[in-house]
Amino acid sequence: TATEPPISENRNPSPAPFDLAYPNVAIQNTSQKSVPFQQPTPLTSFSYTPEHVQVFDDSALRYFCSPPRNAHLGYGYERWIRRPEERSRIDSLLRAVDRITDGQHKKMNLEDIGVVAWRGVFTRILTAPYEDREGWCMNVMLINGTLYLEEHRTESQLVEKNDIKPHHRKMMYYGYAFESYCTTEIKNTSHSKAAPTRYNAHPDSELGWGGDVNTNVQWCSIVRTKLGDTRLVIGGEVDCSDGEYNGTTDTFVELKTSLAIRGAADEEKFERKLLKFYFQSFLLGVPKIVVGFRTPTGQLTSTQSFQTMSIPRMMRERRHGKTSVPWDPSLCLTWGNQFLAYLKQTLIRGESDDAPDHEKSAEFSIKEQSGCDDSTISAQIWRVNFLPG
Ligand code: A3P
Ligand code: MG
Ligand code: MG
Repeated sequence: TATEPPISENRNPSPAPFDLAYPNVAIQNTSQKSVPFQQPTPLTSFSYTPEHVQVFDDSALRYFCSPPRNAHLGYGYERWIRRPEERSRIDSLLRAVDRITDGQHKKMNLEDIGVVAWRGVFTRILTAPYEDREGWCMNVMLINGTLYLEEHRTESQLVEKNDIKPHHRKMMYYGYAFESYCTTEIKNTSHSKAAPTRYNAHPDSELGWGGDVNTNVQWCSIVRTKLGDTRLVIGGEVDCSDGEYNGTTDTFVELKTSLAIRGAADEEKFERKLLKFYFQSFLLGVPKIVVGFRTPTGQLTSTQSFQTMSIPRMMRERRHGKTSVPWDPSLCLTWGNQFLAYLKQTLIRGESDDAPDHEKSAEFSIKEQSGCDDSTISAQIWRVNFLPG
């Protein structure tokens, strides 16, 4: 219109804001081309010791072995050393990023990295359109063109996480006990544990037990990948390697437990869970997910192995007799790509003077929190608030 200045006179070159909302998950668009996602490549790895000290070695890496039939997942519960739930800060991931962008371990230029985050944050972003229960918050910084994302837990969420009901606490333990039964610290295992040989073996130790659970201990892989045109550096815990780790993701295995499926309702619940299992594994390049099905009281009833890459096809085949597939990963990738572009654009605009209205979207908001100023960086911290989709 006549009131708008000619383009050459527009001194603010930032692009026009665009609105972004969750895609409609009810619309099935199977012909839609997915945003490409590059096969992840490991850059480095690190371990957390039993005291939860970060060390740049593979001391916490464990190897897959078949769990005993009918394993009892309540075993060793009293001896569980449980790391308290805390804010899952990005700091240890940043130490890894430092190593791979600088000095003798240099593998990438920092300025080429579009986004750095834990795999859990990416999983939450990508699956947000399907999340209809839980909202969540994220801290964001934009430094020299790289976005750093970190989940933010409120004080009350932390209290809630640490103060769970004994029944719920035990169910949580079953997942870790399954990990113990499915892993050994010995390389080149014959895929079964003949005898309870384990370190930390307790006098009453039981067949196939991999050692008492200490949730301080973790092995993390840091990978590089690309979503659309954005280079991502993603860190995440890898449960074990099936055979010797060769520097690729080929041997990675994700372990999960789930209630044994007894009917159609259970089946639907499991399909929903598979969405999380899928992205959690996909983002780190983990090719195999081993699920231990259990009774409500923690008796392992069966195990099933899923090829991560074939889960979307499995979901499409579930379509028979129903109007829609349970979920569609290409919708998630397209959404994730749009969201990251939107986030970056909003922050860039926010740093300039004409801060736009960040609360147009009904489903998430982006607000400026505080500044972070120390001797090395000066950046704004933003808070993104996601509502259930
Ligand atoms: P399950 O296999 O039963 O899910 P992960 O599978 O990510 O390696 O995590 C191992 C176990 O940690 C899980 O076992 C679960 O018990 C617990 N866990 C992971 N994420 C959790 C969360 N967000 N809330 C509660 N427990 C969680
Ligand atoms: Mg794990
Ligand atoms: Mg697991």
